[in-house]
Amino acid sequence: MKGIILAGGTGSRLHPATLTVSKQLLPVSDKPMIYYPLSTLMLAGVREILVISTGRDLPQFRRLLKDGSQLGLDITYAEQEHPRGIAEAFRIGANHVGDDSVALVLGDNIFHGPKFSDILHDNAQDVQGCVLFGYAVKDPERYGVGEVDADGRLLSLEEKPARPRSNRAITGLYYFDNEVVDIAKNLSPSARGELEITDVNRHYLRRGRARLVDLGRGFAWLDTGTPASLLEAGQYIRMLEERQGVRVACVEEVALRMGFIGAGACHRLGETMTGSEYGRYVMDIAREFASAEGAVEPVNGSTG
Ligand code: G1P
Repeated sequence: MKGIILAGGTGSRLHPATLTVSKQLLPVSDKPMIYYPLSTLMLAGVREILVISTGRDLPQFRRLLKDGSQLGLDITYAEQEHPRGIAEAFRIGANHVGDDSVALVLGDNIFHGPKFSDILHDNAQDVQGCVLFGYAVKDPERYGVGEVDADGRLLSLEEKPARPRSNRAITGLYYFDNEVVDIAKNLSPSARGELEITDVNRHYLRRGRARLVDLGRGFAWLDTGTPASLLEAGQYIRMLEERQGVRVACVEEVALRMGFIGAGACHRLGETMTGSEYGRYVMDIAREFASAEGAVEPVNGSTG
């Protein structure tokens, strides 16, 4: 499965913070926002990832994530000139997707919860149609909304309905089979002139090929759209990290645990950031991992 992170837009609700910096590069607690959706794709087992952003912001994403090889990934970049809708990602990324299935995640979507990696991984196997991830919210009118029957089967999908039929928001993480490329190619813009992801999903729904996976209670799907929600997201992550001594969306750790890189490579990534707690955490994790594995690879950074 291929991956796409859509990190475009102007972030106008966060002006002036985003006048010169992409929203998806702003820090959430101790790391850039894009680390969260990036780790989501990595946990799904996706290694070939296209980052789509504006011409203004792409150079900074490139500087941050490079070609991805340091994390055992293959990261490429493409421009979305104007915000013409989420589904445009499949037009821009058609070559990247090729004849594979694809996971799309929005660059400002932060997920955290029990067994998330299992949910991501299990649903990524042999994707038929589309897989959507639902989350109960108190303000569904702000999102794509899915209505389900008593058995959890999807009945309808609407984009930001004035009168939502349920409280089930459709989050910004989607798995699609390869047909999505054709569907997006033939899609007409909505009344607001955008290629709506909800219209793509409805296409699948009409043919009974859309599945909704519910992210239950105790799960966090965090909003980062406004100064207040961005701060709250950072506080939530910080509270968890402080309390448990673990880090959420530490991409170096995810790469190590997924087997994309070895402990030595992970340690060397930490060595580039020894001034921060984050960098020291990356080195500690590499050391712990190596000793648990019987130090197959040297982790002092000088060799290997
Ligand atoms: C988009 C989608 C919406 C989805 C949301 C998730 O809305 O159109 O269906 O629920 O992302 O973050 P936007 O945030 O672009 O308004």
